[in-house]
Amino acid sequence: ARVRHYKWVVKYEYKSPDCFKKLVITINGRTPGPTIQAQEGDTVIVEVTNNLGTENLAIHWHGIRQIGTPWSDGTEGVTQCPVLPGDTFKYQFVVDRAGTYLYHAHYGMQRGAGLYGSIQVAPNDPEPFAYDFDRSIILNDWYHQSTYEQATGLSSNPFVWVGEPQSLLINGKGRFNCSTISSSSLSSTGGVCNTSNIDCSPYVQTVIPGKTYRLRIGSLTGLSALSFQIEGHNMTVVEADGHFVEPFVVKNLFIYSGETYSVLVKADQDPSRNYWITSNVVARNRTTPPGLATFNYYPNHPKRSPPTSPPTPPGWDDAEPRVAQSLAIKARRGYINKAPTTSDRVIVFLNTQNTIDGFRLWSVNNVSFSLPHTPYLIALKHNLKNSFHSTSPPDGYDFANYDIFSVANNTNATSTNGIYRLKFNTTVDIILQNANTMTKNNSETHPWHLHGHDFWVLGYGKGKFDKDNDPKKYNLENPIMKNTVAVHPFGWTALRFRANNPGVWAFHCHIEAHFYMGMGVVFEEGIDRVGKLPSSIMGCGRT
Ligand code: C2O
Ligand code: CU
Repeated sequence: ARVRHYKWVVKYEYKSPDCFKKLVITINGRTPGPTIQAQEGDTVIVEVTNNLGTENLAIHWHGIRQIGTPWSDGTEGVTQCPVLPGDTFKYQFVVDRAGTYLYHAHYGMQRGAGLYGSIQVAPNDPEPFAYDFDRSIILNDWYHQSTYEQATGLSSNPFVWVGEPQSLLINGKGRFNCSTISSSSLSSTGGVCNTSNIDCSPYVQTVIPGKTYRLRIGSLTGLSALSFQIEGHNMTVVEADGHFVEPFVVKNLFIYSGETYSVLVKADQDPSRNYWITSNVVARNRTTPPGLATFNYYPNHPKRSPPTSPPTPPGWDDAEPRVAQSLAIKARRGYINKAPTTSDRVIVFLNTQNTIDGFRLWSVNNVSFSLPHTPYLIALKHNLKNSFHSTSPPDGYDFANYDIFSVANNTNATSTNGIYRLKFNTTVDIILQNANTMTKNNSETHPWHLHGHDFWVLGYGKGKFDKDNDPKKYNLENPIMKNTVAVHPFGWTALRFRANNPGVWAFHCHIEAHFYMGMGVVFEEGIDRVGKLPSSIMGCGRT
């Protein structure tokens, strides 16, 4: 195994990812940042210099379990103090499993400013599928407001929602229709919108006719669930979050924030033209135009526009095909990682939208999460008393009396920074239960991401989880392992994981605004087995 050493400088720069000029966060001058490429078993070292001037920083390595290095998880308030402006912080961890992963900022709502990228870990053993070329495509949605304006609006009373994104980016490039903003409003904000800026020239994926491409597709949207499509081409799904999938073919790949998939695409269509690559918002009433890129058949000119209009996306409010895709994702034969057949503890997480003293929030079991000032990992390991609420949030909700199909009679909730303490090496089941929001006949899609682990996805269902009968239908035959999974509108999702990674781990909705509004929890397991904490993670709160 080798050591892969990166040196990153993080700073604000003016860029125009969708032709609209604004301040974005770059890594070594780029957004998305450089792709980390390593081999299974390698040690990755990233020395990050915070040149943001007046802003803290933390970077999370999404999908990397951080076995033995919980302090390198990069979750501000959970595993480390923020990296201060001017400081350099060294992340060091082993990439122990091949696959497609992501990285992104994990401080405030900073991710939305452009600090993100992908991680590719090559396998030591041959993979059970063949391809000629390997490419990464990272999908995102994009806002013109700064993340400060967003965060301030979300935590204000009256509440100001971030709204739908202005554009969708494919590998950091999108296209905002500049003519929709008047030149007077542009000049009053000092803004520039220029569709001929090279920052926003669409991404081109050039392909050689007859060849097969592995596309590693990841989503780091702030809000949007997406449908990804390559006009006229089928995609065979072979990997999800670093695990081999029993192959299945799709025309639209539905992908939620925090997920990664590998698909195989054969360049087997009429080679005399180019095709559209599109991403579209689903699950929310879309006002955002599609993200567009070009699937360029060599030797056609990469800038030559496809002769057709971009393919029509699936209906935004049609949840059926999205649930069907979730159900289709099973572990690949010959690569099934068996789930334990029973669990030691079942925790039900009811997802609701609430108010506390008039402020709009999201909660789990009627408790909205807030980060403490002293990171849990340090508080627990060093026994810093009174750093956070010592009572744990509830393991469930009043099942018999809660109607998930209506707006709650009483939308009031409470807030906590208390955490769940898991017994080391036990098996834990999580049931994510969705419900109606504070709007009539509305339930959203929430992609939940677990730090420090992969979990088995045991099942999905409609309506209220039935604790006597639904567990009998769990898939224990070939459940996929993932680190991010969706809970669909008015439905439930059941997961199982082993609490076998000493540390403190966040589990939260990957929608940036939802986590910011309290949609998350934290698990602790085996804190006594965590090694000596590096002093570099300290320096805030009681540390
Ligand atoms: Cu990719 Cu805690 O998130
Ligand atoms: Cu959410």
